[in-house]
Amino acid sequence: MTDRSSDLPAQPAPSLVARPQWQALRQHAQARAERTLQDLFAADPQRGERLVAEAAGLYLDYSKQRVGDDTLQLLLQLADACGLRARIDAMFAGARINATEDRAVLHVALRAPEGECIATGGDDVVPEVHAVLERMAAFAGQVRDGRWTGATGQRIRNVVSIGIGGSDLGPVMAYEALRHYSRRELAFRFVSNVDPTDFVEATRGLDPAETLFIVCSKTFTTQETLVNAHAARDWCLAALHHEAAVAKHFVAVSTNEAGVRDFGVDPANMFGFWDWVGGRYSMDSAIGLSTMIAIGPDHFREMLAGFHAMDVHFRSAPFERNLPVLMGLLGIWNNNFLGAATVAVLPYAQYLKRFPAYLQQLTMESNGKHVGLDGKRVEVQTGPIYWGEPGTNGQHSFYQLLHQGTRLVPCDFIGFCQPLNPPDAQHDLLMANLFAQGEALAFGKRAAQVRAEGTPEAFVPHRVFDGNRPSSTILADRLTPRSLGALVALYEHAVFVQGTIWNIDSFDQWGVELGKQLAKTTEAELAAAAPALAHDSSTNALIRRYRERRGR
Ligand code: F6P
Repeated sequence: MTDRSSDLPAQPAPSLVARPQWQALRQHAQARAERTLQDLFAADPQRGERLVAEAAGLYLDYSKQRVGDDTLQLLLQLADACGLRARIDAMFAGARINATEDRAVLHVALRAPEGECIATGGDDVVPEVHAVLERMAAFAGQVRDGRWTGATGQRIRNVVSIGIGGSDLGPVMAYEALRHYSRRELAFRFVSNVDPTDFVEATRGLDPAETLFIVCSKTFTTQETLVNAHAARDWCLAALHHEAAVAKHFVAVSTNEAGVRDFGVDPANMFGFWDWVGGRYSMDSAIGLSTMIAIGPDHFREMLAGFHAMDVHFRSAPFERNLPVLMGLLGIWNNNFLGAATVAVLPYAQYLKRFPAYLQQLTMESNGKHVGLDGKRVEVQTGPIYWGEPGTNGQHSFYQLLHQGTRLVPCDFIGFCQPLNPPDAQHDLLMANLFAQGEALAFGKRAAQVRAEGTPEAFVPHRVFDGNRPSSTILADRLTPRSLGALVALYEHAVFVQGTIWNIDSFDQWGVELGKQLAKTTEAELAAAAPALAHDSSTNALIRRYRERRGR
């Protein structure tokens, strides 16, 4: 297999909506519109055990999705027609499937075991990956056991990670998710926002002599990160008074060695990664250095093993039993054929409180695209809006809309059979809520039942739950580094499946550029005395008002 995307099917892909499989799904959706989850379950007593799939320690129950076996067959036919198998093979073969940036997409190499060969441009990248992992492990070990000291010889007690987007959301999410396994004597803080408050609050109360900064930026050009890194440098040097302190208090994670050197970090204290790792696919690269310091190298390797187990499954399992393929296709069904514009991610695990935020970048920066790989405007809706909160908090907030609103919101419930914290009975209560929500959404409550409970007639309509609201449930035995890795890989690959169906580039992010460019011009206008403003009347007026009232 060659590594050029141009070697992928040379013919322009036929229009998605013109494909017979797409047409068949449309007709099917219309013909089966009346078929409810209640009907589907009534017709098949085994449905809840049949419409499930399991891999890499994750159990996926998709029986509460509004699909029949016929729907699944049509979705699988669509995947075949869109060349999903070839796209998966191309990704693993190091083809430059990120066409608009002309890059390979090899986050799967970040978790490939030693000895496996994953190549791009003729080079096996796995040895480099393991070389960096070993350097990370050596460094993490020194910080964890106190051999790495600050400029005054004090041991490091605080680790502050500076980054944004993929250089922040993954590390924050993983740190929170795996806190149970983390070294409690070390404090971890994360700075991302260019709002100075973020840095000020994250460093409040910390002693610079005991603080290590990890500056994470793939490009090392990201404005927010560089501004915060300079603030950290100033904060550190104001206390430690010597430029040489930078070497003991700053390390960097980047692909840009020159940029790191310019900032003043010795490349010996830099941990590298590669252009074939997208920012939002990088939490298991050196970007995960803070995670490794927190949980230790062995747990980090366990997490990589979880990712890898899902990679192997994705690559080799038949599509009808393939978790990421099923999740991806069910998302297409809900989005494109049932008209659902969003997906709620509802982890019943407090440790996963940042998981929805992490998924927002993974899914929406990947699949929020309006142009296909053929350069033409897509004809269908692409990436849905992901959002969510941990259960049970969400139940007392937005679940009202999920149950009785006018919009269809498919839900992903995520839970664990074993608790990480006592008491067990409270964990049972948490999980009882998870199971109850999926059941209530699917089956609702009929007017007859509401009446039978003695509800006055005038209030009956208010207390009826229509049901027929789709959800999937993902269960793992326990939240561990391994199950977290598998869970993240599941979503990564489901995103890829959907991008393949829509024929979009799930690995670029041109849509973030315009705002960045305009902010540069505007920043100059805010700094200068009063240059003429040439924006639209609204932006001009906002800038003028800000200048007048900012109090300086
Ligand atoms: O602005 C979007 C983005 O490019 C993301 O894709 C990326 O994760 C983030 O910025 C941070 O980029 P970097 O790691 O280069 O600082």
